[in-house]
Amino acid sequence: MPTHEAGALHAGIPAPAWLEVPADVNALFQPLWPRTAFKKDDAVLQVGGITVTDLAAQVGTPAYVVDETDFRARATEFKESFATAFADLAGARVHYASKALITVGIARWLVEDGLAVDVSSAGELEIVTRAGMPPDRITVHGSNKRDAYLERALATGVGRIVVDSLQEIDQVERIAAATSTVAPVQLRCSIGIEAHTHEFIATSHEDQKFGLSLADGQAMEGARRAAAAPHIEFLGIHSHIGSQIFDVEAFAQAIRRLVKFTALLDASLGGPLTELGLGGGFGVAYTTGHDPMPIPEIAQGMADLVARECQREKIGVPHVSVEPGRAIAGPAGITIYTVGVVKEVTIPGGGKRLYVSVDGGMSDNIRTALYGADYSATLASRRSAAPPRLARVVGVHCEAGDIVVEDEYLPADIAAGDILAVPVTGAYCHSMGSNYNQVPRPPIVAVRDGLANVLVRRETQADLLARDLYA
Ligand code: LLP
Repeated sequence: MPTHEAGALHAGIPAPAWLEVPADVNALFQPLWPRTAFKKDDAVLQVGGITVTDLAAQVGTPAYVVDETDFRARATEFKESFATAFADLAGARVHYASKALITVGIARWLVEDGLAVDVSSAGELEIVTRAGMPPDRITVHGSNKRDAYLERALATGVGRIVVDSLQEIDQVERIAAATSTVAPVQLRCSIGIEAHTHEFIATSHEDQKFGLSLADGQAMEGARRAAAAPHIEFLGIHSHIGSQIFDVEAFAQAIRRLVKFTALLDASLGGPLTELGLGGGFGVAYTTGHDPMPIPEIAQGMADLVARECQREKIGVPHVSVEPGRAIAGPAGITIYTVGVVKEVTIPGGGKRLYVSVDGGMSDNIRTALYGADYSATLASRRSAAPPRLARVVGVHCEAGDIVVEDEYLPADIAAGDILAVPVTGAYCHSMGSNYNQVPRPPIVAVRDGLANVLVRRETQADLLARDLYA
């Protein structure tokens, strides 16, 4: 078996260009881990004041672990950065995107910390209202909203409904009229920006389902309809250009186009629009290859640009909202797994790849299979003196694409019973979880100051069978 100059075992397989051989395979690359996470002298990972070995003993594996301190610090940093940057303009509000990860417990943190939220389904709306989120801090999204969802949103008194089609404008008007209410509405626009991200998570180029296009005149038609509807208060336009975006120029382009269109609407509708929704999409580091910009810098950059573009277009500055999901929840969460089968597989060309199986997989993290997302992992339950070896972390599912971490250097002596931790799984892992192969979903455990607080318990076989009417 060939040995790398740095001591790593490659076994004849190439590593991706961004993946460096770790100088110490036991060390954490701190930017990927929650703020309270560190490895103790025995190299056991601790987060929120609890070791993962204690957590595994308490709640089992696999488990999603959320560092409450980290989540709330990120949420607060967003809120304060945008409040500060937009203080001399018309203000800005941060709506946490619930789709990333929401439970009643997490929604309570957001209520307490003064965040607003966006929801994209009746189910998410139910969770945040149960947590006591003030209705005016809720924005309602969805590309195909059912009547019952809109009725519930209006009855709740939500702050805004972002309409996504011409049809929906008529639907909102009909429902608001029937209940003698006035619906506060923003219009979701697609603005033709190709953000450099995975195709499935890029949302504002033209050939996808979201929004009304500026290019073909539908956004203008939608704005006219919304402004003329007696039971709609038309507040402004909204756009979300995609997710996991590092390209500052994409956000800048979006602001230029949206401010320009707002100016056009102000002139043609005969009154100023008071709001501008800029969506979410702020990228986070999943691996050593990513380097996101600090939030205060992003907020200040956006504020400067909004001010400058509004001045250029000679319009008043609207109140701005942003909707970060991943950038708040993602880095606050980790997943802990127990290692089972470890297998060396001879690959075409003769190299040998180490497959490390864990007790979860694509049902608790679909992002690797769905988007080709990169993750990393660390041995979290002991110190190893073995050299780093390139490995692939896979799950329990009956599917060759059941990959959790495509490539990572793990200690060459990784073995059954070890605990493996994967960072940056707070966003879009639990929320996109499934029961593939009738596998129950893991619990979500919040940790803080040495205490483990189960937010969502582990699913059981009984839960799954409860819906099978022949069981
Ligand atoms: N606002 C709107 C209108 C959105 O559609 C989304 C994400 C967000 C905000 C939050 O975006 P974030 O800041 O979290 O990137 N499931 C995918 C991402 C698709 C998200 C769709 N909408 C993933 O796992 O990467």
